[in-house]
Amino acid sequence: MAYLRESMELNLFFLRILKEHALFMQLSFMPRDRMLAEAADDLGERLTQLFKQAIALSEGYVSAEVMNSGELFTRYTEEAERQMEFFTGLPMDLQITRDEYNLGGGTLPPETLRPQVDALNQNALALARQMQQFMQRVLEDVAACRAITTLYPTQIDHLARELHHYIFRLRSLMSGNTLLTAQEFADEQAFWNEIMAEHAEFIDGLLDPTEQNLKAQAEAFAVEFARLVEQLETAQQRPMMIPQVTLRDEDAMRSLQNFKSQATHGILSCKIRSIITPLLADHVLREANHYLRVLRQNM
Ligand SMILES: [Fe+2]
Ligand SMILES: [Fe+2]
Repeated sequence: MAYLRESMELNLFFLRILKEHALFMQLSFMPRDRMLAEAADDLGERLTQLFKQAIALSEGYVSAEVMNSGELFTRYTEEAERQMEFFTGLPMDLQITRDEYNLGGGTLPPETLRPQVDALNQNALALARQMQQFMQRVLEDVAACRAITTLYPTQIDHLARELHHYIFRLRSLMSGNTLLTAQEFADEQAFWNEIMAEHAEFIDGLLDPTEQNLKAQAEAFAVEFARLVEQLETAQQRPMMIPQVTLRDEDAMRSLQNFKSQATHGILSCKIRSIITPLLADHVLREANHYLRVLRQNM
């Protein structure tokens, strides 16, 4: 059943993403806002528990495409987590990542797993909605200058939009929609191109001012992806043009993936000066890997 495997793969990707969002939020608050940091920590803990359940449920059923895409983990993930534990003093359960190495197998999940997969989707949706309320509250506080954080306001909004996208995909899957229609695929591209443009802007803004070469590259990616967003908007008026834009997206994504991979390597090996945390570097790389896999699967 496509529904069972797609549910597993969607939740495996996004539950890790969300648990990391919770950590990024937790680390971003001022000492005064300890309550907000604790709320983020609590959400992160519950996301981690659900993520572990998703891993236990999915073992042996994840497709080779997803396993090899680098969207669930990369060759840097474990090291990034080790360094996060070292720098923050907060425990990171690295065993979760090691457990993910055994998820592949490619056999189709049996129909008998349906009740558990349904429950996973429902629990994920409920938890995602709680996270959405929390994000909304923080966004309002920041917009009204009731609080400041070490994340850009646009970064918080970015995390909230990724969360919204997960909820949208989850609901679509729960209503039995397993394949993307042409329109949905175009929307998926519009969403991720915008996200990728923002990643480039964030990387540019979080690199040390002396990293001029890397900053120039990040800036060029931001311009390129902003252009792709526009091209897709134009193409959506004339759907025949979309496949052409998809090819350009794939091409641009390959370069961006390479850039992010090298940046992650540079940050983990202390070769780049920045305020990008090791896990944030790996996180945006995984999001690029996910988008690239979705692109290729639907081209
Ligand atoms: Fe993210
Ligand atoms: Fe992102």
